[in-house]
Amino acid sequence: MIDDVRQAREAGLARVAAATSSDELRSVDAEVLGKKGPLSGLKTRLGGSPVEERKTVGQAINEAITAVQAALDARSAALGAEQTAARIAAERLDLTEVVGRQRRGHPHLSTQAWERLEDVFVGLGFQVAEGPEVETDFYNFEALNMPRSHPARSGFDTLFTDYHDDGTVLLRTHTSPVQIRVMQQIAPPIYMVMPGKVFRRDTPDATHMPVFHQIEGLVVDRNITMAHLAGTIDAFTKAFFGSGFSSRLRPNYFPFTEPSAEFDIRRPDGTWIELGGCGMVHPNVLRAGGLDPEVWSGFAFGFGIDRMARERHGVDDLRDMFSNDIRFIEQF
Ligand code: DAH
Repeated sequence: MIDDVRQAREAGLARVAAATSSDELRSVDAEVLGKKGPLSGLKTRLGGSPVEERKTVGQAINEAITAVQAALDARSAALGAEQTAARIAAERLDLTEVVGRQRRGHPHLSTQAWERLEDVFVGLGFQVAEGPEVETDFYNFEALNMPRSHPARSGFDTLFTDYHDDGTVLLRTHTSPVQIRVMQQIAPPIYMVMPGKVFRRDTPDATHMPVFHQIEGLVVDRNITMAHLAGTIDAFTKAFFGSGFSSRLRPNYFPFTEPSAEFDIRRPDGTWIELGGCGMVHPNVLRAGGLDPEVWSGFAFGFGIDRMARERHGVDDLRDMFSNDIRFIEQF
């Protein structure tokens, strides 16, 4: 019987050595060391043997199993390394060639959308402003009609800094705080768009990133109505997407606007994309910006820039846009 063990051991080791892929190795593992394998069979047979033989042969079987297992592990590691090396070789990108040919880069997909959006709004008579990415609670929430206890705050998944008192300094969760900064700094009439980076405590998935881009719009003038808002959104939609697209407003709630709406864009095929929020600037927000709501009225809107880029270029997964894989980025 000891010869049978030796034979099973040698056969097992030979099969491990001959395996050329991880898949093959997995089946060798199952066939040689599995319940129906030769070594298990020998163990079963051993049950009926005399005590002396059970001891020596049993030990030999266990050693054989250990030896085959060790060979499997070593072969598996070697094959894994080979496969990784092969993949690296196959996916190798010669960046020195790019530099050598003086091929220039180009703006990222999101930057392109950002710049195009600015162009479209400048064409409609707007100016462009930017605000800080690290904000205070006052600008991000309080001045936007969201006092400390306001339930809408919890919808923002805010990242706070540990600077200053707890909860007072944060990474802005939207571009809306720039509305307040603009109102405090320039006198109406205001026709302004405010693009920028925003942050939320979110796990990345196909449609969400913890860091993303928004563009905010603010108009403050005399006698501004909801009709001006709807007309602006529609003019922007056609300028950005093309004349085959149109827009609609749907009632919604935001603390900083009253009334508030969500706006959707209609594709030429009749399907709708939810794009962003908008509404008439709340009197408390005008006051926080230092303006008299009896004299001035306005509208505001805000939406995601990356989403627009994704929509225009038919990108399925938002994460692809930010993984910096040149083979993806290069296409746009
Ligand atoms: N700040 C909102 C958000 O991030 C979007 C928004 C809604 C902006 C309505 C606005 C507005 O200016 O009027 O979800």
